[in-house]
Amino acid sequence: MRRGALIVFEGCDRAGKSTQCRKLVEALQAKGKAAEAMRFPDRTTVIGKTIGSYLEKKMEMQDNAVHLLFSANRWELVPYMQKLLNQGTTLVVDRYAYSGVAFTAAKQGFDLHWCKQPDVGLPKPDLVFFLDINLEEAEQRDDFGEERYESTLFQKKVKDNYDQLKESTWEFLDASQSIEDIHCSALDIAEDIVDGELCTPMEKLWI
Ligand code: TMP
Ligand code: MG
Repeated sequence: MRRGALIVFEGCDRAGKSTQCRKLVEALQAKGKAAEAMRFPDRTTVIGKTIGSYLEKKMEMQDNAVHLLFSANRWELVPYMQKLLNQGTTLVVDRYAYSGVAFTAAKQGFDLHWCKQPDVGLPKPDLVFFLDINLEEAEQRDDFGEERYESTLFQKKVKDNYDQLKESTWEFLDASQSIEDIHCSALDIAEDIVDGELCTPMEKLWI
């Protein structure tokens, strides 16, 4: 049986990732393909609830420790992801290890190398969409500024870090286009991957 594809959306806060994930899952399902949405952090688990409190600024946590929690939150869901992928379900994931690295490395005293280590060996995405947003535009969008990390200065550093994480699996989408236009581009590219030759077993990230 064909495995599902692992598709990830990345980008700065308010780039429109969640909307695009939802639309892509709906479109794939409408075409008869098994697809499911996931997101990181997954705030429903015990680890995810702690991360949620930290992001909502209800608690403080040492920076290395919270970085490891974000990574642990991905690892705890790997068995679930593997199961669905092996059953032929495509996963469309809102943020992944690239967010982990880009955000922590934007903090004082962190480098990309250290930040990548806990996520080394995770299932490697077949496709990563990077929603490229102009930071002044992101700032204007709803709710910007409520959670931790949502400041323009921080997001600028995040964006620079993303630039250093680009891989051949990445596709850049201009986030200033209309929701529909972005969706059409993403669906075209995603379908090629979902219907194409998927390498089995899956590759491992950053190995
Ligand atoms: P969300 O707004 O997509 O739910 O993401 C929550 C915030 O957490 C967002 O600012 C990005 C940040 N983040 C990390 O710092 N490390 C990670 O590993 C992930 C997945 C997100
Ligand atoms: Mg957010």
